[in-house]
Amino acid sequence: MSKGTILSGMRPTGKLHMGHMSVLENWVKMQSEYNCYFMVADWHALSTEYSDPTGIREKTVDMVIDWLTVGIDPEQSVIFVQSDIKEHAELHLLFSMITPLSWLERVPTYKEQLIQLGEQGKDINTYGFLGYPLLQAADILVYKATAVPVGEDQLPHLELTREVARRFNHLFGTKVFPEPKSIVGKVSLLPGVDGRKMSKSYGNFINIAAATDEVSTQVRAMITDPARIHKTDPGHPDVCTVHTYHTLYNKGDVGNIAESCRAGSVGCVACKKALAEKLEGFLLPMREKRAQLERNPGYIDELLAEGAKKARAVASDVMAEVRTTMKMV
Ligand code: TRP
Ligand code: SF4
Repeated sequence: MSKGTILSGMRPTGKLHMGHMSVLENWVKMQSEYNCYFMVADWHALSTEYSDPTGIREKTVDMVIDWLTVGIDPEQSVIFVQSDIKEHAELHLLFSMITPLSWLERVPTYKEQLIQLGEQGKDINTYGFLGYPLLQAADILVYKATAVPVGEDQLPHLELTREVARRFNHLFGTKVFPEPKSIVGKVSLLPGVDGRKMSKSYGNFINIAAATDEVSTQVRAMITDPARIHKTDPGHPDVCTVHTYHTLYNKGDVGNIAESCRAGSVGCVACKKALAEKLEGFLLPMREKRAQLERNPGYIDELLAEGAKKARAVASDVMAEVRTTMKMV
């Protein structure tokens, strides 16, 4: 049986943080099981950042470097930038002809984000923002992807993608498009250093590419058991962010650490120091890989050009089929 096809994408946000690791690890695993397309969604970024698109290219390069350092393999998977493949735009346009307006208006994230981003002073009352989930459907279907790894928040977009595929097939009496299933990855268990969700906007993140001193600064800033004032006070590891990190990145020692914490025999400073060392060991190989990639400017450009070539080959065949189906040729 032929392998299924996966397409997934991320907006170019620059360097990624450790909260992104669970999604990326998922992508890495899928590489051997599927034909994978990993896309930098730069047009999607414009739907909310149109008034200031500076830095999108730099952010793209920084993000793709992180993809490579965690193990996305350009030999195995196709890594490309959305705007390099104009077929996405053509399919988006054709889909816009057959998609009832109400389908887009009822996407739950639409009204929510309109309000949320509006409060941040962003006016996204635009045609492009409303049509954004349809562009996403085009991203996916232009490769006839059969599965899409996404977060919970993207499920309504995937539902719309399936509806659009179904409507297209029904209207034109074909089976051009599969109805891709969503694969919901496990959510990141890693909190930010302040215990809230790790997020760029909270400043509570540790970048995958963080330097040694950035790692130790962020670990020192971590929230511990607030009831623990003296080193000899018995601590409560279950309410401590440092402990959560030990659970994930120091599996061998976490039992001992929790016990010593409860017994008041280890201080938070030493406990944090041990964690910083573990994180350092985990991040070092990726940091070194980044340094190596950065020594070779132009490599990422080449890689993306190569990825675009492979993506285009597939997307243009699918579009030829779509044009024939829609009597456009
Ligand atoms: N909408 C996704 C996000 O904001 C990014 C994205 C664009 C995407 N096109 C996609 C994800 C296609 C999966 C499949 O995170
Ligand atoms: Fe947290 Fe470690 Fe301090 Fe216990 S000793 S409260 S686990 S930092």
